[in-house]
Amino acid sequence: MNGNANRKDFLSIRDFSPSDIQYLLTLGRQVKAHPSAYGSALRGETLAMIFEKPSLRTRVTFDVGIQQLGGFSLYLSPVEINLGKRESVYDVAKNLERMVQGIMIRTYSHEIVEQMAVYASIPIINGLTDYSHPCQAMADYLTIWEAKQHLDGLKIAFIGDGNNVARSLMFAGAQVGAHVWVATPPGYELDAHSVAWARKRAVETGGTCTVTNDPDEAASGADVIYTDVWASMGKEAEAEKRKHIFLPYQVDATLFRRAKPDAIFLHCLPAHRGDEVTDDVIDSPRSLVFQQAENRLHSQKAIMLELMKGEFVKLPGLVELQELAHI
Ligand code: CP
Ligand code: NVA
Repeated sequence: MNGNANRKDFLSIRDFSPSDIQYLLTLGRQVKAHPSAYGSALRGETLAMIFEKPSLRTRVTFDVGIQQLGGFSLYLSPVEINLGKRESVYDVAKNLERMVQGIMIRTYSHEIVEQMAVYASIPIINGLTDYSHPCQAMADYLTIWEAKQHLDGLKIAFIGDGNNVARSLMFAGAQVGAHVWVATPPGYELDAHSVAWARKRAVETGGTCTVTNDPDEAASGADVIYTDVWASMGKEAEAEKRKHIFLPYQVDATLFRRAKPDAIFLHCLPAHRGDEVTDDVIDSPRSLVFQQAENRLHSQKAIMLELMKGEFVKLPGLVELQELAHI
């Protein structure tokens, strides 16, 4: 990495330094601007994609992304692997490291991706766990950077459930010097340990991290309003109960108007229209949700390039772009 870390894996935004995150965002922008320059960077390499939960964006963007880099993907569905049940995480890691050059995993328990990273000698990429969604956060900040031309000092308000997406958004915001606000109903806050880490990192980068139960306060004067489903994958049984609890946290036109006049709206998708966000907000000209979804492709190509190829990808021009970042 360009910063302090020399990481084999991409498990959490917390594992990296601010300059690593800046570097990966910059590489993502470079890859987006010059895709053909990277067309054979991972020639002949295979990424195994283990999915224990459904996906549209993660599956398609990793699949298309590795192909655009000259490699191949292998989709492994929940019924095929049945991690930890049909076969131990250790045995899966020891098999796959002899067959493929990288593994992307979407699963429930974060410990599974951590164990896989310890056991496998090849890169492991976290494609979402109950705890975090770091690939999403990279696409989120790439989108915000494109829209606002900088990241430091921006007020980014996440309104809804204190979930995996909120946690990674907060971690990454702390890394880039943003002012992250997370507004949740009482009882659905992010855990204190995660918030403490973000606050400590934010002190180093000039950012801040504020948690509240007041959605109006969080949205007020924000540059970015972000929300996600009220019941994440695995929590479907709570969906009905949560609908009532979360209704005051719905991002509707009234709440969106509390943000700056040029504020943008983001959502990791899939969205439950009419629940966490109303159509007039998600379909408004200031909603960048589909640009954000596309940016999963570019930012994950940068992650795969860095993990699977390392220094090789540092083409001329990257340094200049990085200097423009003001992150
Ligand atoms: N945002 C996201 O991860 O979408 P999928 O669940 O469709 O992959
Ligand atoms: N928080 C959501 C994100 C989906 C991309 C979930 O975990 O289901």
